[in-house]
Amino acid sequence: MIINSYRNSTLKDEFKTHHTSNQKELKVEMEVRSVYLKTFGCQMNQHDSENILDLLESINYKFTPDPKKADLILINTCTVREKSEQKFYSLLGRIKKYRKNGRVLLGVGGCVAQQEGERLLKKAPYLDLIFGTTNINRLPELIEAARITGKVQIDTEFQENSHSFPKSPCSVSSKVKAYVTIMQGCDNFCSFCIVPFVRGRERRRPSGEILAEIRKLVEMGIKEVTLLGQNVNSYGLNCSGELSFPELIREINRIEGLKRIRFTTSHPKDLSEELINCFGELEKLCPHIHLPIQSGSNRILEKMNRGYTREEYLSKVDKLRRVCPKIGITTDIIVGFPGETEADFQKTLDIVTEIEYDEFYSFKYSDRPMTRASQFTQKLPDQEKSQRLSILQELQKPITIKKNKELVNKKLEVLVEGKSKKNPKRLTGRSGTNKVINFEGPSGLEGKIVRVEILEAYPHSLYGRMV
Ligand code: SAH
Ligand code: SF4
Ligand code: F3S
Repeated sequence: MIINSYRNSTLKDEFKTHHTSNQKELKVEMEVRSVYLKTFGCQMNQHDSENILDLLESINYKFTPDPKKADLILINTCTVREKSEQKFYSLLGRIKKYRKNGRVLLGVGGCVAQQEGERLLKKAPYLDLIFGTTNINRLPELIEAARITGKVQIDTEFQENSHSFPKSPCSVSSKVKAYVTIMQGCDNFCSFCIVPFVRGRERRRPSGEILAEIRKLVEMGIKEVTLLGQNVNSYGLNCSGELSFPELIREINRIEGLKRIRFTTSHPKDLSEELINCFGELEKLCPHIHLPIQSGSNRILEKMNRGYTREEYLSKVDKLRRVCPKIGITTDIIVGFPGETEADFQKTLDIVTEIEYDEFYSFKYSDRPMTRASQFTQKLPDQEKSQRLSILQELQKPITIKKNKELVNKKLEVLVEGKSKKNPKRLTGRSGTNKVINFEGPSGLEGKIVRVEILEAYPHSLYGRMV
């Protein structure tokens, strides 16, 4: 996903609080330069990219969507699956021609940079910068050093303290909604997953800081926040004196002017009754949950080290729907985990049929460095994984369409985000359940919640009329 979203300079000017005096001096001396940034991966990476652009703006770099025009080319990478890593290398191959010795710098950050560090130079000796997932705040220094010395600058050393939290609120790529990091890293070590190795141990951001950031965002006009963490449900667990995640949401719900709260990702094993009840009680908490199941087979769930059974998962889905009948539920599923038999795969198909997700993201298992599953035997051939993936996706298609068709003739509340990209005559926004809704309407509605009657349902969006 590219963060080439246009960044609102007036909003940001109000919040240039984070540059050091050093950076201020640099800003005075330097001409305006341009930076191209391509982002792969999850919302954490997207948010990191917002912070990167913001930080660079404080040293006079303006974003350009065209790498040919850039003085600095950055790639923020993802390594969660083999394919994510391959996409990065393929982009690097295409983009390296724009690098010019000493004049146009090329840098790589994010999860592949964290995983590979200096080793990246074996594949890409021309790189000028390599920075890890917790070293973003050192970028201005690294860029300057690379320009002055002409030598590659590498910093992938883990900063496991709160300094590595983005110094928000400075970064918003939308005038309506914003991400807020509440924790970083992960301690769950699901056997297939590289995230704990590239994002480090779980770190919690103090609730006071989170609340202050959200209040500032609301002052800037933000109406919806998405709280970010690899496992937000474990916020405040084993930490006396800190709010639990449900308590934190309750506090956020009290912030005047804020209209909507979302969060991602929540791990099924830590989804508490107290959090489930929030969906029935808190008017600002959107009726949508992304609850990755990964597999419907208990045998595979155990090998994945997920910490729940299909029965426990089903019972939580049941409770969620009892407390909040309209809740939208989405998930992640991996097919072809090592040792996954036909019978295990059938259990995944069965649970997908039973639950009827609104939508899901499905992936073929791929080995990741350092993970336990990469050492497991009984790996499945790629052809088998592809076949299972397509069976699963075909099974879901009519379910998604059926769920969307159920909304036709219903009136939904939509937070208007702006003009639709595909058809600028239309406005676009999302329902509380996270469905994309396009409709015709006057200008000036951005940031408002309006009621839209749904007229047509498509696989990935709905079309309606403002009422
Ligand atoms: N913290 C989130 C997941 C982040 S990774 C959670 O616990 O749900 C996003 C998704 O990538 C995972 O949910 C999983 O479905 C998929 N994934 C992670 N590692 C994978 C691998 N080795 N092969 C295939 N899919 C993988
Ligand atoms: Fe990966 Fe599991 Fe942590 Fe999610 S909870 S980031 S899947 S280790
Ligand atoms: Fe990818 Fe790193 Fe996110 S591996 S999914 S960008 S935490």
